[in-house]
Amino acid sequence: MHSFDEYRKFVNNHLTDLIGDPGEEASELADAMRYSLEVGGKRLRPALLLASSEFAGGSMDEALPYALALEYIHTYSLIHDDLPAMDNDDLRRGKPTNHKVFGEAMAILAGDGLLSTAAEIVTGQPLEYSSDAAKMRNHIRAAHEIMSRAGAAGMIAGQTADIKGEKLEPTADLIRFIELHKTADLITAPVRAGLMLSGADDDMLERFTLYARNIGVAFQILDDILDIEGDQALLGKTLGKDAEQGKCNYAFVHGLEAAKKELHRLTAEAKEALAPYGDEAVFFTELADSLETRDH
Ligand code: IPE
Ligand code: IPE
Ligand code: MG
Ligand code: MG
Ligand code: MG
Repeated sequence: MHSFDEYRKFVNNHLTDLIGDPGEEASELADAMRYSLEVGGKRLRPALLLASSEFAGGSMDEALPYALALEYIHTYSLIHDDLPAMDNDDLRRGKPTNHKVFGEAMAILAGDGLLSTAAEIVTGQPLEYSSDAAKMRNHIRAAHEIMSRAGAAGMIAGQTADIKGEKLEPTADLIRFIELHKTADLITAPVRAGLMLSGADDDMLERFTLYARNIGVAFQILDDILDIEGDQALLGKTLGKDAEQGKCNYAFVHGLEAAKKELHRLTAEAKEALAPYGDEAVFFTELADSLETRDH
C-alpha cells in the first residue's frame, strides 16, 4: 500500500495520458478537457481506486486506467454541474469554471468528451487481458461498476433530484437520496471497482461498500457545511450558493450542529465496517478521519 500523497502524485503524473487527440479542427476540445483536469482537485476518487485495488492484491499499473477514467467522469460531472443551466458557478478548483473560459458550448462538449473517453478506457482495458478469462472478467466487472454508478440510476439520478429539489420542500429522505447518488455513488464506484479488479471476495466487497457509502454521504454533508461556513480561498468555490439557489443542503433541514454530528457518526460507522481488518486497513480508516476534518 502507498500513502494518499503517493497515489495523488501517481495520478497527477499520468493525468492526461489517456486524453486522445481530437484533431486540429477540434483542438480546443482537448484544451477544454485538459483545463478542468489540470486546474486542481484532490484526486480522492482515483486514489481510492488505486488503494482498493492494492489492498486486494492488485498492482497500481493495472488499476491506473480505471483510476483516470473515474477522475475524467468526476471532472465532467463538475463541469456540467457548474453550467448556467445547473448550479451556475463561476469558480471551481480555485479557477474560473470551464464555461467561463471556453464558453458554454465548449464546456458541454468537454464534459461529453471526458465521459466518453472514460467509457472508451473501461471498455478497452478488458480487451488487453483477453488471454486470461478470469482476469478479463474482473476487468469487465470493474468497468460495469464504474459506468453504472456514473449513470442514470447513479450519479445522474442524484443530480436530477438535486435540480428538481430546488423547487421542493426538502425532506430527510430526499436529502439522503441526493447524497447517496450525486456523491456517494462516485465514491463507492472506485472502491468496489478497485477490489473487483483484484478479484476480491464478496465479504470484502460488502464491508468496503459499507465503508464507501458512509464516507460518501459524509463527504456530501461536509460539502453542505462548507458551503455555509467554509473559507472560499481554501475551498476554491463560491460560498453560499446552496442558500442562494434553494438547494437541499443537509444543514438547512437538520441544522449545522446535527450535520456535524451526522458527519461524525457516518465516519465512525465507515471505520467500524473495516474493523475486522485491523491495522491492515489503516489507509482507509485514516482517510475517513482526514475527510471528516477537511477544509477543501
Ligand atoms: C466536489 O468534489 C463535488 C462533490 C461531490 C461535493 P470534490 O470536493 O472531490 O472536488 P475536487 O475533485 O477536489 O475538485
Ligand atoms: C455536485 O454537488 C455533485 C456532482 C457534481 C456530481 P454540488 O453541486 O453540491 O457540488 P459543488 O458544491 O458544486 O462542488
Ligand atoms: Mg450541484
Ligand atoms: Mg454545484
Ligand atoms: Mg455543494
